[in-house]
Amino acid sequence: MKIAIFFFSSSGNTWRIAKQISDTFKLEGAQANIYNIETIPADELLKALHKNDILGFGYPIFGSDLPFRMKQFLVDLPALPIPKPVFVFCTQWLFSGDGTSVAQEFLPSSYSPVKWSEHFFMPNNICISSIRLPYTNDQQKIARKIQKTQTRINPLVHAILKNKTKKRGFSLISTWLGRMQRKPFRKYFEHYRNRIGIDFDRCISCNLCVEVCPMENFSKNPIQTKGTCMYCLRCYNFSMFTT
Ligand SMILES: Cc1cc2nc3c(=O)[nH]c(=O)nc-3n(C[C@H](O)[C@H](O)[C@H](O)COP(=O)(O)O)c2cc1C
Repeated sequence: MKIAIFFFSSSGNTWRIAKQISDTFKLEGAQANIYNIETIPADELLKALHKNDILGFGYPIFGSDLPFRMKQFLVDLPALPIPKPVFVFCTQWLFSGDGTSVAQEFLPSSYSPVKWSEHFFMPNNICISSIRLPYTNDQQKIARKIQKTQTRINPLVHAILKNKTKKRGFSLISTWLGRMQRKPFRKYFEHYRNRIGIDFDRCISCNLCVEVCPMENFSKNPIQTKGTCMYCLRCYNFSMFTT
């Protein structure tokens, strides 16, 4: 069995889970490859979609919703001649309600409905000083949290290999809770995405934000934002280690 896993990850958590899922498939004798949606060329994407039997999609949860970059990727997926089984997973800090089932909204109709889905608890990646949330760089704590995810990865991988439906995030209560969080978040993100700016008192013009931003939201000399922020916080997460 051949499995392709397409992921978006702003600060590494989802990449990590995609890799663990792929490694678990390999241990079970299946072929699995992971693809970063930010870097995969169009021809390789087409090949991966055609040559694999099962397609997986993974992303971090932003306000019980998909990151804009992942939505864009799903909506733009080329049509498939024959629908293939699909699984979806998301990484989250605390809660996402229907974080996986909401992907169905964006998958083109030529893709099969989601058959397997799972939510993974990972470290929080919100590190803005104005929003005080528990955030840690304690490697032992992080390692413990990552280790725990394997207890959800194994059942997911086994269900996929045995072709037994297994879905998290699809119940009525999950849908209701997800919608409650997503509705105000979508409004808030849309309202503020072009208002996010640069703190010039702290900026050292290292240009790291320009390089790492998945939305090409920054232009150089002088550094300015273009209003395309999707709140992934990669600029915060990566630059905090260098400044
Ligand atoms: C803008 C934003 C919104 C988030 N919203 C949620 C949320 O609603 N629920 C949650 O549990 N975690 C939330 N998180 C935390 C991330 O989903 C979590 O840390 C994720 O594992 C990050 O994955 P990544 O490193 O692959 O980007 C949010 C993070 C960001 C940056």
